[in-house]
Amino acid sequence: MTPLGANHDISSFDCGAPELTRWLGQAHTAQERDTARVFVVADEHHRVLAYSALVVGSTSPRSLPSRARGGLSADIPMVLLGRLAVDQAHQRSGLGDLMLIDAVRRAIEVRERAGTRLLAAHPRDELARRWYEHKGLASTTDGRLCYLRLRDAAPPREPDTR
Ligand SMILES: CC(C)(COP(=O)(O)OP(=O)(O)OC[C@H]1O[C@@H](n2cnc3c(N)ncnc32)[C@H](O)[C@@H]1OP(=O)(O)O)[C@@H](O)C(=O)NCCC(=O)NCCS
Repeated sequence: MTPLGANHDISSFDCGAPELTRWLGQAHTAQERDTARVFVVADEHHRVLAYSALVVGSTSPRSLPSRARGGLSADIPMVLLGRLAVDQAHQRSGLGDLMLIDAVRRAIEVRERAGTRLLAAHPRDELARRWYEHKGLASTTDGRLCYLRLRDAAPPREPDTR
């Protein structure tokens, strides 16, 4: 897993979801503008096989259960897995799983440096939502967000009272 760099070849990438395939073409610009950090798995020819994009954000507590809200009524800080996609030819071989684990690890690092409660993703459709749930994320009551409480994923460092 490496940050997307100028040497990576994105020309043949196709994940089957046109908006996610297209977005990879804008990923360098997003990085330059600090609106996302993009990470890729590439083959020996530097062809991108999978990518993820992380941003910092927040979400309304309204659709979150109390365990995820932690008693807060203000917006909940989170690391958003804004995009996650695997090239069609390489799907179902564990790359999505690898990208998700990497995103959790990076979100835990963010939590060490700046308060953030969740890693979350907006599933693009029902299949994606089921995939995130299969990987252990919970869905909000409105189904618009899948999330993981970082405190449950990180090594304990304080009493878990909320
Ligand atoms: C969703 C996506 C990222 C998954 O990546 P992947 O590399 O194909 O998935 P993995 O190989 O890591 O995971 C496969 C596992 O998920 C399961 N799985 C696959 N699709 C599933 C689904 N829709 N619902 C539940 N489980 C599913 C498989 O049975 C397998 O289970 P296992 O880990 O217990 O063996 C990929 O299919 C993709 O890029 N899709 C198009 C874009 C997209 O929908 N992105 C989601 C973010 S919006």
